[in-house]
Amino acid sequence: MKVLSSRSEELKPSAFADFFAEAVEMQRSGEDVIHLHVGEPDQATPKHILDAARSAMEEGFTHYTPPGGFFELREAISEKLKKDNKIDVDPSREVCVLSGGYNALYSAFQVLISPGDEVIVPAPCLPQYWGQIILAGGKAVSIGLTEDNNFRPDLEELKSKVNSKTKLILLNSPQNPTGSILTREDINGIAEIVENNDLLVITDEVYEKFIYNNHPHISFASVSGMKERTLTVNSFSKTYAMTGWRVGYAAGDSVIIDKIRGICEHTIWCPNSVAQRAAIAALKGPQDCVREMVEEFRKRRDTITVGLNEIDRFSCSEPKGAFYAFPSIEDLGLSSMELAQLFLRKAKVAVIPGIAFGPQGEGNLRFSFANSRENISRALERIEKAVREIP
Ligand SMILES: Cc1ncc(COP(=O)(O)O)c(C=O)c1O
Repeated sequence: MKVLSSRSEELKPSAFADFFAEAVEMQRSGEDVIHLHVGEPDQATPKHILDAARSAMEEGFTHYTPPGGFFELREAISEKLKKDNKIDVDPSREVCVLSGGYNALYSAFQVLISPGDEVIVPAPCLPQYWGQIILAGGKAVSIGLTEDNNFRPDLEELKSKVNSKTKLILLNSPQNPTGSILTREDINGIAEIVENNDLLVITDEVYEKFIYNNHPHISFASVSGMKERTLTVNSFSKTYAMTGWRVGYAAGDSVIIDKIRGICEHTIWCPNSVAQRAAIAALKGPQDCVREMVEEFRKRRDTITVGLNEIDRFSCSEPKGAFYAFPSIEDLGLSSMELAQLFLRKAKVAVIPGIAFGPQGEGNLRFSFANSRENISRALERIEKAVREIP
C-alpha cells in the first residue's frame, strides 16, 4: 500500500526548518547564537491587546465563533481597509477572518485554483506559496526579481508568462525576502495586464506597515477596476507583533469570500476566539505602538545595510520595506547554503540561504533585522571575521 498521497509527496521540506532546528539545537547546548533568520518582530504584543484577550477569557469568549470571524472584528477590518488602504468592503459579505495570513492564502488557493491552473509568482519568495499552490493542484510559474530592477517585477517578463492556463498573479509588497516594494507605476502596469488577460490577483500585504523613507503602500485592490479581481490578504502577525495569536484575513469579492468561509467551515471552523477579541483591540486601540516599532526597525535597517556593505565582497541594496536585508554574496564563491552553514557553525549567526526562497534567491542571503541593534552589530562583527577567513 502507498501510504503517502502524491500531493504530500510533492511538498519539499523547506530549508527554513533545517536552520531553525540547527540554530535552536546549538542555542540549547549553550552556544551564543545570534538569530537573524527569524521572520517575526522581537517586540512583545502591546499591553492593551493582551488586556483585551484577558477580558475576553474572563468574560467567557472561549467558544466557537462563526466561521469567518466575529462581526465586530470584520467591521473593524473593513473600517481599517477603507481608511488605510482605500478599499471599500462590506463586512458582512466581503471579509473573512482566518488563522493568520498563511491560512488565508491556503484557503484562497483552494477556492481559486483548479488542477492545471497557473499562478504567476514573482520570486525569490516565501516558499509556502509554492507548497500551497501545489496543494491546490496548481502550477507556480516564477518571474525573477533581480537587484538590477530593485527586486521589482519586470512587466515584459510578466506579460510573456501569461497564457491560456494563467488564472492568477500573486503579489507581495513589501516583499519577503528582498524588502522591495511595488511602485504606483508597477501596480498600474500589472493592473493593465490583469485587465487585458482577464486574470485575478492575490495580494499579500502582511508587511504593509513596515515601509521606510515615506514610500507609500499602494493596495492593489484600490486601483480603479481591480477591486473585483483582487483578493487582499493581511494579518495581525507582523503589524502588532502577534505571530503566535494566528489571526489574519482575506477581503474581496463576496462570491470568493463566501467560498473561503466554506473552506473554514470544513477545516478550522473558526479562528481562535480570544485572539479575535485581541485583534479588535489592535485595530481600534492606539497605533503609536506600530509607529514606534517601525521607527526602531528603520534604525536597524540602516545599521544592517551600512554594516553589510562594509564587509568585503558583500553588497547590499537598501531594503525599502519588510524587515529583511538580502545582500548579494556572489563574489564569495560559495553557494548560499554553504555560506549560511558556515556563518551558523563558525560565526554562530543564523541567517537564511537565498536558495530557500527558490533558485532565483541563489547568490543572496536573507538577514532578518528583527533583532536588537546591539545584536545586529555583534553579528556583523562575527560575520566580517568569518568572511576574512574565506580564501
Ligand atoms: C510574505 C508573508 N506572507 C504571509 C506570512 C504569514 O504570516 P501569518 O500567517 O503569521 O499571518 C508571512 C510570514 O512570515 C510572510 O512573510
